[in-house]
Amino acid sequence: MLNEDYPDRGNVGPTPAMTSRADETFLDYIADLRSVLMMSPAKKVHPKANAVIEAEGIETKATAESVEAVRDVVRRKLPEAGVWARVYRSTQQAFWNRVCESYGLREDAFLRMLEESDQSGPGSVEWDPDYVYPDYAKVEIHLQPGGYVGHPLAGLRYDYGTRVFGGKVSENDYLHKAMAAKVPTPRDGRVERIMDIACSVGKLTCALKERFPQAEVWGSDISAPMVRYAHYRAIEQGQTVHFLQKAAEDLDALPADHFDLVTVHILFHEVPTPVVDRTIANVYRLLRPGGTFWISDFPSLGNDPHGLHYTNLLGAIDSADNSEPYAPEFVRSNVEAKLQKAGFSLRYENPADMNVHGRVCDKPMKGE
Ligand SMILES: C[S@@+](CC[C@H](N)C(=O)[O-])C[C@H]1O[C@@H](n2cnc3c(N)ncnc32)[C@H](O)[C@@H]1O
Repeated sequence: MLNEDYPDRGNVGPTPAMTSRADETFLDYIADLRSVLMMSPAKKVHPKANAVIEAEGIETKATAESVEAVRDVVRRKLPEAGVWARVYRSTQQAFWNRVCESYGLREDAFLRMLEESDQSGPGSVEWDPDYVYPDYAKVEIHLQPGGYVGHPLAGLRYDYGTRVFGGKVSENDYLHKAMAAKVPTPRDGRVERIMDIACSVGKLTCALKERFPQAEVWGSDISAPMVRYAHYRAIEQGQTVHFLQKAAEDLDALPADHFDLVTVHILFHEVPTPVVDRTIANVYRLLRPGGTFWISDFPSLGNDPHGLHYTNLLGAIDSADNSEPYAPEFVRSNVEAKLQKAGFSLRYENPADMNVHGRVCDKPMKGE
């Protein structure tokens, strides 16, 4: 990305590099810190914290009172969990600030880049500059400044930020490519049209196109900055993918019985329950008979005791510190039951295995 004040440092895969080497080094350090200190200690800290919370009889909810009660007991009875949560939040604030500052130095150049890619191919993007976002979509999920919709470079920020957030597990889109490789196909094997809902920067969308090169592949997301940047990113990879700014609960304009495969990766725990319910109904309408719906997300406690992991420490402190206010509501629901009620037949679900299998269901063939 050329700008007369800064040298072009190129891309990291399809993602524009940080503006300076110093920014990159700092962010690598934070990513490594999160991997080393956060990921493995978290496995030890969470069960201990959950045991303390349960022993104290605290009901965990995503309310301020509940979060405070959890913090209080964790501070008193298990200081290491309190430190874990504090460091987790601090590293998160630190990396978002640096990502926003670093890209911000070249904001004009990035805006021009998006304007150019809006008009270019392969593939396409449709978005509405006057789109009115519902309030829930403005939440600063993961503490990202401006959230998904509040800044024109939100997609770019999210792309680099999530590399750091996950301790580089999604480096070079490995995670999404691995997921795409395992996404199930309809029982008759026909995959001609795919829709990836809440596609964000289009990593899964492009990985699906790579796996099914003959298919027409679409990605939709409520956020204009996300779909615009997803399109830029797809062009960088030479992928013909079509992106649409559309809310998952508002896909009525798309044809019924149309898609062979619909995917939704980690949307449901970030939105209120009525959005989940309307999305499930919409997907049922969009899929052709025999079509397949794949959902990858947190487990539902309603269906699996593993969900407990997400309700106690994570449900309270993480929901607050990572700013995921709807996650506890989702975890307490029973998505499998909702899918069946909507008419799907459940083929497979493994809630403990969220990034790989999640839930797979099929729209019955006519007469089934
Ligand atoms: C965690 S990200 C999804 C990640 C993405 N599926 C992936 O695999 O990289 C959540 C995305 O959902 C989008 N979103 C939030 N509410 C939405 C809604 N009602 N309909 C469609 N997209 C929504 C956000 O803009 C954001 O891009």
